[in-house]
Amino acid sequence: MRCVLITGAAGFIGSHTSLLLLNAGYKLFLLDNFSNSSPISLNRIARLSKLSNNEVKERISIIKGDIRNLSLLERTFLTAKSQGEKITSVIHFAGLKAVGESFEKALDYWETNVGGTLTLLKAMEKNDCRTIVFSSSATVYGQSTQDSLIETDPVSPINPYGATKAAIERMLTNIAGCNSHTTPKQKSPSGWRIACLRYFNPAGAHPSGEIGEDPRNIPNNLFPLINQVGVGRRESLTIFGNDWPTIDGTGIRDYVHVMDIAEGHKAALDMLMLSEPICLILNLGTGKGTSVLELIEIFKLSTGIEIKYKFGPRRMGDSAISLANPKEALKYINWKSKRTLSDICRDGWNWQTSNPKGYDDAYSKD
Ligand code: NAD
Ligand code: UFG
Repeated sequence: MRCVLITGAAGFIGSHTSLLLLNAGYKLFLLDNFSNSSPISLNRIARLSKLSNNEVKERISIIKGDIRNLSLLERTFLTAKSQGEKITSVIHFAGLKAVGESFEKALDYWETNVGGTLTLLKAMEKNDCRTIVFSSSATVYGQSTQDSLIETDPVSPINPYGATKAAIERMLTNIAGCNSHTTPKQKSPSGWRIACLRYFNPAGAHPSGEIGEDPRNIPNNLFPLINQVGVGRRESLTIFGNDWPTIDGTGIRDYVHVMDIAEGHKAALDMLMLSEPICLILNLGTGKGTSVLELIEIFKLSTGIEIKYKFGPRRMGDSAISLANPKEALKYINWKSKRTLSDICRDGWNWQTSNPKGYDDAYSKD
């Protein structure tokens, strides 16, 4: 059985990807320190998989802990061995991800994102595990352009969070023995198999409404904020700027369904497993841009809910437009997004209305 360690597994993208891999027959070691998530999401994954209790015990091991803890990581590899299994690959989601916060806590971002990844890579190498799919981000590109972004565009982050993602990409291309950190596919002379997936704006939820996005504090991202205003948890939305050089003055982003992103991870992992040692750097986005005002309108058409908003100043570290050119992902891992913005709104709203307070609601009933 293929055995995968997933860091940050209880989080938004980690939980959806874990469910997909569980249903595809993988054995999973799910590691999280729950600093921005709830363990309830892992219970929900087990429930949604429809495996028997015994099968769940065989197929899922949950590890509460930190990616900066080398001995914990080494113990995880040893535990797999003691069960007659070998962790042959890692999907690495764990990290800090709030752009604004990264200006105030730059050192924490470098320690967790870069230091944590370094520790993880050491544990992997020591245990002869050289396959990793890494959560990179469109933030590595920095300043916006009117054109869609391709992987060969300059890496030039404009916030500390993006700088940590760019540094990790460099670290990974270095250990792969590759020259370039902007080439979509390169051979790895050192024998690693690596995929850096640059997600654009993941949003939505699993269609069941059982798992979704539930950040511990006030959300930073637009989509969960729209949902929380919709459900009455917040009074109104502040739109950060109406003077951007875009069709209606509000920021344009490439929103991509979280289940499409989860499928992108499976596609990348499956490709790495089959291929010679390579390093992939790929955008995961739809190639379609949507402004803040357009998203509010599509949300209303899809859910019937009107979102109250007001305009505020621009947010530090934001750009006008961020749009993917996703053609290299189609070429190298045969992935493209399948779901629409209406699907994102419908599924996200289903999650929000089924769990108005996120997983906190679940403590009594799960
Ligand atoms: P998330 O916060 O929901 O998930 C991250 C998970 O990592 C959380 O469960 C958190 O508890 C855990 N974690 C954090 N620090 C940890 C540590 N030191 N040790 C162990 N676990 C730790 O975020 P997400 O939206 O699911 O994002 C997953 C990854 O994708 C992140 O690396 C993020 O930077 C990246 N990414 C996210 C987006 C987005 O818009 N959601 C876009 C691009 C890239
Ligand atoms: N926005 C508002 N009001 C809010 C929040 C956001 O107007 O309260 C606007 C932003 O200005 C931007 C758009 O909504 O125009 C999207 O903002 P998000 O915060 O949802 O997303 P970002 O594009 O800023 O960043 C996200 C993730 C990053 C990731 C990046 C990749 O937060 O982790 O996408 O493009 F790296």
